[in-house]
Amino acid sequence: MELNADRERIENKLEIGKEMLYLSRNEVEETGLTVDDILDLTHSALVAHGNKDYEMPAKVGVHPFKEVFFHAMPAYVPSKKAVGIKWVECYPSNPEKYNLPQTTGLLIINDVLTGCPVAVMDATWVTSMRTPAVTVLAAAELHPEAETFGMFGCGIQGIEHCRYIVKTLKKLKKIYVYDIKEKAADLLIQAVQPQIDIEIIRGKDPETVTKSCEVLSSATVILLETLAVVKDEWVSRGQTILPCDLNTFWDPITSKRADKYIVDSAEEHELFAETGYFPAGLPEIACETGEVLAGNNPGRETENELIVCSNIGMAVCDVVVGKEIFIRALENGLGRKLPL
Ligand SMILES: NC(=O)c1ccc[n+]([C@@H]2O[C@H](COP(=O)([O-])OP(=O)(O)OC[C@H]3O[C@@H](n4cnc5c(N)ncnc54)[C@H](O)[C@@H]3O)[C@@H](O)[C@H]2O)c1
Repeated sequence: MELNADRERIENKLEIGKEMLYLSRNEVEETGLTVDDILDLTHSALVAHGNKDYEMPAKVGVHPFKEVFFHAMPAYVPSKKAVGIKWVECYPSNPEKYNLPQTTGLLIINDVLTGCPVAVMDATWVTSMRTPAVTVLAAAELHPEAETFGMFGCGIQGIEHCRYIVKTLKKLKKIYVYDIKEKAADLLIQAVQPQIDIEIIRGKDPETVTKSCEVLSSATVILLETLAVVKDEWVSRGQTILPCDLNTFWDPITSKRADKYIVDSAEEHELFAETGYFPAGLPEIACETGEVLAGNNPGRETENELIVCSNIGMAVCDVVVGKEIFIRALENGLGRKLPL
């Protein structure tokens, strides 16, 4: 779509430069984007990234306490006419200390032609949806024949990962889930099992889950030091491991000895390493997730390869999904217009 045509969709409903749309978390959800919509949008963002059709400087951050970060995540994706910035925080102890999510944030969407802000929206839902979308799209490219999927961490991300994985791994037969809190695993099963046909089993321990699954993901906590919950000796050749929690959950030896260590953004991973994550050193990066999805890199080449694909989150996905949310909200009269 041409820039002017794209803008007309906005101009008819919003006085650009004079007002913007504010969307609460509920209003973001009410736009009605489905799992399939999020998968399509995230796929297009990853392919754009893989084709270098983007501008996305590595996250600029501030760190009020040890183990917490705020990130400014700007991105421009020309092919999607999407530009904006997410301001996101990661406070790992929020759930225990304050009964609040680890990750919250705001997303600003701008008009490409004039730069004016056109929307500010809660970014919690966008983050909780685009993150599993990246994992499961990568899983489908790297391990399409997988019959077993294991999920470590049964919180917000764990729940969505189980809902999303059934969409892309077409041969899936079993999902194993594990959480340090048994109750969280039970709640995940209660919430997701009625929505999907694949059996979800609460794993006995990390070792059993690791040894039972071809594809594994983790969404627990992001800490400077690795917890190495999964020991390297439990991991076998041929498996695909997709952490959302950087270097925390897996034995660092596993990522280092993997045949391929793929990341969503090399620049972001290098920045995390510079700020003290990956104390054992950043593994050598084979390629980026988007390059595999765009067909610019083969990804898995043999059945025996051990692949670790670490996706820490990219603003290209946020602005592409956020732009669509904004357009749908405008079309459906959702949200509140606020004067600039
Ligand atoms: N990569 C990304 O783009 C991205 C996006 C959002 C969140 N995240 C990260 O994903 C992780 C999970 O986020 P969330 O919103 O689902 O958090 P959450 O608090 O809702 O869930 C985390 C779950 O992990 C469990 N857990 C913690 N330590 C564990 C351990 N050692 N073993 C097993 N389970 C353990 C907790 O009990 C909890 O149930 C966080 O680290 C967050 O920063 C990554």
